[in-house]
Parts: sequence; structure tokens; C-alpha cells
Amino acid sequence: MSYLPIQQVLKTLPVGTDVTIKGWVRTKRESKNAVFIALNDGSTINNIQAVAEAGQLSEDTLKLITTGACIAVTGPLVESQGAGQAVEVKIVTVQVYGPADPDKYPLQPKRHSLEFLREIAHLRPRTNTFSAILRIRHALAFAVHKYFNDNGFYYLNTPIITASDAEGAGEMFRVTTLDATKPPLTEEGKVDYSQDFFGRETNLTVSGQLEGELGAMALGKIYTFGPTFRAENSNTTRHLAEFWMIEPEMAFYELEDNMNLAEDFVKTVIRYALQHCADDLAFLDNRLKEEEKTKKKEEQSELGLLEKLQFVISNEFVRLTYTEAIEILVNSKPAKKGQFQYEVSWGVDLQSEHERYLVEKHFKKPVILTNYPREIKAFYMKQDEDGKTVRAMDVLFPGIGEIIGGSQREDDFDKLVARMHEVGIEPEALWWYLDTRRFGSAPHAGFGLGFERLVLFVTGMGNIRDVIPFPRAPKTAEF
Ligand code: 4AD
Ligand code: MG
Repeated sequence: MSYLPIQQVLKTLPVGTDVTIKGWVRTKRESKNAVFIALNDGSTINNIQAVAEAGQLSEDTLKLITTGACIAVTGPLVESQGAGQAVEVKIVTVQVYGPADPDKYPLQPKRHSLEFLREIAHLRPRTNTFSAILRIRHALAFAVHKYFNDNGFYYLNTPIITASDAEGAGEMFRVTTLDATKPPLTEEGKVDYSQDFFGRETNLTVSGQLEGELGAMALGKIYTFGPTFRAENSNTTRHLAEFWMIEPEMAFYELEDNMNLAEDFVKTVIRYALQHCADDLAFLDNRLKEEEKTKKKEEQSELGLLEKLQFVISNEFVRLTYTEAIEILVNSKPAKKGQFQYEVSWGVDLQSEHERYLVEKHFKKPVILTNYPREIKAFYMKQDEDGKTVRAMDVLFPGIGEIIGGSQREDDFDKLVARMHEVGIEPEALWWYLDTRRFGSAPHAGFGLGFERLVLFVTGMGNIRDVIPFPRAPKTAEF
């Protein structure tokens, strides 16, 4: 008697094999002659059908086999008469592990809205849509590690509790060991936060980049892949308070090398998902097509999910400078007709409406924008000779906007310190970071990919809260 996940049973076992299948009941259907149970164990989007003859199972057992119950069925694999399935299990015995009271179990065999499923995030992995997303998420994470391992990068674990604000944007969550009921007070009677973390002010990391640079200056090529935190109160479909970021950092890379790596990397991991998640992607592709049909004709997207992924991996990304992009935007129809919510001119930070115009309307391809004005970018980016721009790059994707942000780093000690003074960062606070420029400085570059934005793109979902198992965003952290 073999016990295998359904995915392997369907793929590898011939008719006639005796099997035990353990999983959760998706549906039960009774006809005059038989009972049909669709079982799923999370290993695949495909259910396996288990069939008993009418009267074979006791009334008591049948009553417990409802949607959501966990059961094991044992019997031979036989050819199936059902459409879309080659084999099914002819039930010999059934064991009920855990029933699920149909009056109380929130998931029913029908399509629930994503909003409703967000309210029961603890159970939504049991739905087809979310189990497909989670398997794709897993495959993408594996592909990320594989890509870097295959290309000579070392995986560096950077701290989650840190005293630095890597982006200098001040969007940090504080970490504290204080007893909230008896906090130490300053002479003025205010809470003395300088005592926070064993006598130090600390926060949850917004990015592992600065520590990543230390790694690159020692190991050559490194990458991080860990949770990062932003206390921006953005209630958007693209922002989370806790998200996973992948940050490669490479010694001796300049901006051009950085762009080449970003493009090859993102295409390779998408290709991996297409090769290894075909069933799940086909399911999500269908789901999306159904959803598109409910939209007005002019709002329906031209490409299906699979076509969109194929398109991205087989076309070169457009590369242009921020200055060139502004030129295009200023002369665009929405700008002339005043349709952008935010006006656009040289020096402003691009809003997602501008990014999406460039990608979805103008070029209809992923775009890498480079050489942004120094004032709107972080202090660590290498300054261009013109004194106005820095060697930044953002990768913009259709439906997403910014998916990657990166740059060549300022490797000149004096220029970096001067820039820190300009933006109000105390060089002493980052003395360890400056040591990379003090001792054996080298040209280097890197970028950060928001993992959930990648999963959002690959799954075709519309809200970032639906591509992470336990979303942390304003009003969501119940468990
Ligand atoms: O552009 P960001 O802020 O860049 C950095 O943090 C750099 N230190 C990266 C580097 O050069 N090593 O963030 C990088 C990416 C963004 O492009 C976006 O994909 C994602 O992280 N991101 C978020 N994803 C989800 N929720 C948020 N609140 C995010 N903020 C940034
Ligand atoms: Mg950015």
C-alpha cells in the first residue's frame, strides 16, 4: 500500500495500484448508484475523485464527509469515466480524521470573493486560488536561490533588528525591550526611547542593502532574501508593511552590468515558474479570463496571463533615462489634457500613473529607467558627472509599476560623506558603512526586488495582500 501526495499519484501510478489518499474534501456528490468525493491535499491544483457504491458507506460516515473535512480513502486506482481525469480511487475503506461542521465551515464549494477570503486568511490556503498562488510563490523563491547559486553569488543573512535607516526615508518600526507599563523616563518626564534595545535606538530593517554592501566588499557577489518592514501607511494594492526583498550586491559592477543582471534574473525566475508551475498558472490564467469577461470591453486586457509572461521573457526591456522619460510624459496626451492626477516635470518623483503610462501605453514593454535626479533618490547612489543625476535604475512592469529599485553605489568616500551631510545623515552613525569606502573601496552596484510584486506579476493577481500568506498592512495583523 503506497501513500503518496495526489500530485505524484496522478503523475506516476498506473491503474490497478492500491493507494491511500489523505486530504481535504472539496465536494461530495451523491447519485442513485454512487458517492463521488473530490479530494485535495494541497500538492496540486488537481483533485482526485474517490468513488463508493451507493450503500457502501454507513450513514454516519457519509454525514461526516462534507466540504472541508479531512479524510483518508484506500482502494485501487481505476480508470475514470469523469471528464478531465484519467484515474480515480475505488473506495474500499474510509477514515475520517477531522470533520468540518457544514453549518460553521466558512468555505463552500463555490467561488468566494477575494475580499471575503482576506477576512479568513487562516483558511484561504485551502482554496484553489490561494493554494495555486502559494505553490507558485514557493517555486519563485526556489528559483531565486537557484539563480544566484548558479551564478556564483553567496546568500548573506543581514540583520532584521538594526540601528540604521538604509533608505533614509524614516519609515521604520521601532524595536523595544521596554516594559510598556514602566518605561524609563527622561528628565522632562517623557518616555526615554534611547534605552530601547538594550540601551540603543533600533528598528526593524527597511532594507538589507547597507549590510549587503559590506558582504559584496568581502565576498564579491552576494544576495539577501529576507523580510523587510516599512511603516508607511499606504493602503494601496502594491504596498505591505512587511514584505520580502531580494537584494543582490556586486563588487566591480557598474550601472550597465546591474541592469543586465536585473533583466536576466527576473526573466530567468519567470521562465522557471512557467516551466514548473504549468497547472497552477493555467488555473490562474482561466480564473483571470473569467474575471476579464465581467469587465467592459475597453478595460479588458489584451493578453492573457500566460501570454503576458511569455511576452516579458521574450522581449528586451526598454532602457531610457529619467530625463528622456520626462520628455515623453510631458508630451503625452494625458499630460496635455491634464489627465494625470500629479503633474509631471523634470525633478518630480514619478507616480505610479506615470510609470504605468510609460510601460502600458507608450512602450508596451517593461522599462528600465535610469539616471534620476539626485534629490529624489537615496544618499548612497553614485553621482553622475553632470552634478544633477545619480546612477539609479528602476525596473517598471506592466500592471505593477516599480518592481525593482537599484543603483551603482557612491564609492568615493568624500563625495559620500558630503552627500550624507546634505541630507542630514550623521556620518558617525554609519561609521561601519563608511569603512567600506575608507578601506579598499571599489565600484559596486546592486538592486532590490520586492518579492511580492514579482509574485503579483506572475500570478496576475490584483492585490499584494493576496500573494503573501499572512499580509501585514494597516488593519490586517490579527495573527
Ligand atoms: O526602491 P526600494 O525602496 O529600494 C531599496 O530598498 C534599496 N535598498 C534596494 C537596493 O538597491 N538594494 O525598494 C526595493 C523594492 C521596490 O522596487 C519594490 O518592488 C519593493 O522593494 N517595495 C515594496 N514592496 C511591497 N511593499 C512595500 N511597502 C514596498 N516598498 C518597496
Ligand atoms: Mg524605489
